[in-house]
Amino acid sequence: MSEILALAEAGVLTLTFNRPDKKNAITAAMYAGLAAALEAAAMDDAVRAVVLQGAPECFTAGNDLADFKDNPPEVVEGQPIAPVFRFLEALRVFPKPLLAAVCGPAVGIGTTLLLHCDLVYAADNAAFSLPFVNLGLCPEAGASLLLPQLVGYPRAAEKLLLGEAFYAEEALDMGLINRILPPSEVNAYTQAQARKLAAKPAASVRITKALMKQPQTQLQGLMQDEIQHFGQLLRGPAAKEAISAVMEKRKPDFSKC
Ligand code: COA
Repeated sequence: MSEILALAEAGVLTLTFNRPDKKNAITAAMYAGLAAALEAAAMDDAVRAVVLQGAPECFTAGNDLADFKDNPPEVVEGQPIAPVFRFLEALRVFPKPLLAAVCGPAVGIGTTLLLHCDLVYAADNAAFSLPFVNLGLCPEAGASLLLPQLVGYPRAAEKLLLGEAFYAEEALDMGLINRILPPSEVNAYTQAQARKLAAKPAASVRITKALMKQPQTQLQGLMQDEIQHFGQLLRGPAAKEAISAVMEKRKPDFSKC
């Protein structure tokens, strides 16, 4: 079965992370599937809203760590864009309502992708984290701009520099999510909100979203800078040590990094 499930119903395309044995960690192939689905949904008049969701116990453990180690995304001019970067760009420019239903861990890109969603509903078991520095990396998906904008610099610095997990109540207080629900209700509630949006006049919805996003003039350039730094750091000694440590279930040793 596909690791990204796609279901279109009542004007809503629902994309579900479906790799339960690896906590929905996202591989290059999954990013490619997500990017293609978003690119097609942007052009398809029958799709009027998109929902991203995981399972009741886990949204996603973020980028697949084995992929980070063995198949790091390339940032080479003139080369085809790596699937993860294609997915991030598809998120940035997605013109229709994008909703997320988050249960359990939402690690790394599992949290940063939420910054591109219009509505986010989370379960009371949701755990958000931005462990980029702890992995010898830096933020991606425009989080270095969008998070400080959303929550203020001190709080963004705490989340991005310390990389500690935070939970649904704090995420609601920060403005990262819209509402907290029991895990068994999050997907259905998000679906109902998406269907409400899908029934509204499409042009009004699209233009309202575009107008709200219009001030984000620095986002595209900043995401390019993040990609350059991320690609370099991923090949550096700190990331190699950190990723090996997570995979070997031991503490990293950054004394030489
Ligand atoms: N990439 C690849 N595999 C992953 C993964 C990831 N990001 N996250 C979890 N897995 C795998 C584990 O290796 C394990 O595989 P195994 O059963 O073959 O050993 C399986 O998923 C279950 O993971 P486990 O850690 O036992 O689950 P948990 O419920 O105790 O914890 C998480 C869940 C998500 C909190 C934890 O797995 C985690 O922190 N993962 C790493 C997240 C990360 O650093 N992502 C990169 C972000 S940039």
